[in-house]
Amino acid sequence: MFRTFSKRAGLLAAATVSALALASCSQGASGDGGSGDSDTIRVGFSQLGAESGWRTANTESVKASLTEDAGFDLTFVDAQQKQENQIKALRDFIDQDVDVIAFSPVIETGWDEVLQDIKDSGIPVVLVDRTVTTTVEDPYVTWIGADFRLEGEMAGEWVAENHPDAKIFQLQGTLGSGAQVDREEGFEAAVGADAIIGEATGNFTRAEGKVAVEAALQAYPDMDMIFAHNDDMGLGAVEAIEAAGLTPGEDIKIVTVDAVRDGLQALKDGKFNYVVECNPVFGDQLAELIKQVVAEEDVPLETVVVDKTFDQSITQEELDARLY
Ligand code: AHR
Repeated sequence: MFRTFSKRAGLLAAATVSALALASCSQGASGDGGSGDSDTIRVGFSQLGAESGWRTANTESVKASLTEDAGFDLTFVDAQQKQENQIKALRDFIDQDVDVIAFSPVIETGWDEVLQDIKDSGIPVVLVDRTVTTTVEDPYVTWIGADFRLEGEMAGEWVAENHPDAKIFQLQGTLGSGAQVDREEGFEAAVGADAIIGEATGNFTRAEGKVAVEAALQAYPDMDMIFAHNDDMGLGAVEAIEAAGLTPGEDIKIVTVDAVRDGLQALKDGKFNYVVECNPVFGDQLAELIKQVVAEEDVPLETVVVDKTFDQSITQEELDARLY
């Protein structure tokens, strides 16, 4: 599906458009708002946090691609996994009249008001990584990220095929995030809801993943499999399982999503059993999309980053070649 978004059209649609605004729009969507080189694209990027190895790699990829040399003036704000921080950053970007607002929403809901305000300002939105559920019509021009549902499904299919009788504890990501909701849906569709004997969130962090599994070991003594929505929480689970005198990967099998280097090392060491990739290195594709949006070219509504899967046959060579 293709769709165009014009900053000028957005402004014209806004009821409060002024003659002055129209004059400045006639310079084109890549106008610099009055500061510096008019070819420079001013991007406000609200990253949701720094909660995981995946997030760190994604931030590095975005910063490495949206550089001055590549024609960008990037304002990067880390929201520390708090939606209110993201909303504040988005409002600041409106005030700064950036050319494009990009953001990775920490959860799916609660964006209606700010998305409407951005729309009224005429600034195009590029959604990164996670998704939103909103009543605002056409809230973003384009989205780039992974198919979280498919990731959950791939993890579940491996479990259903290799450990059909597993008693599974699900270590969920941040509740209400696209990554949690969709991975859970895909996984449950593959293994069947009855296979999951318990679940709790670890908020995508190693520390909270460990705490959740410490409690699960007490509450669900029968569990013999953990599906962690990311590697970091899976690594927290390893710590909790070892501290309880059990062997991760054997007594309790672990399936995760992300495939960051630490996760794949755990797989090679036999502590994880299966890992579904979620590739965070898409800064170059994001930069290209932003350029197209500013040039008012047609862009795909969705760009899905392709993921692979890994089992314990992973080689040292594959591990060494890992970028993140
Ligand atoms: O939204 C992507 C997810 O967010 C990654 O799987 C996880 O590690 C991160 O925190």
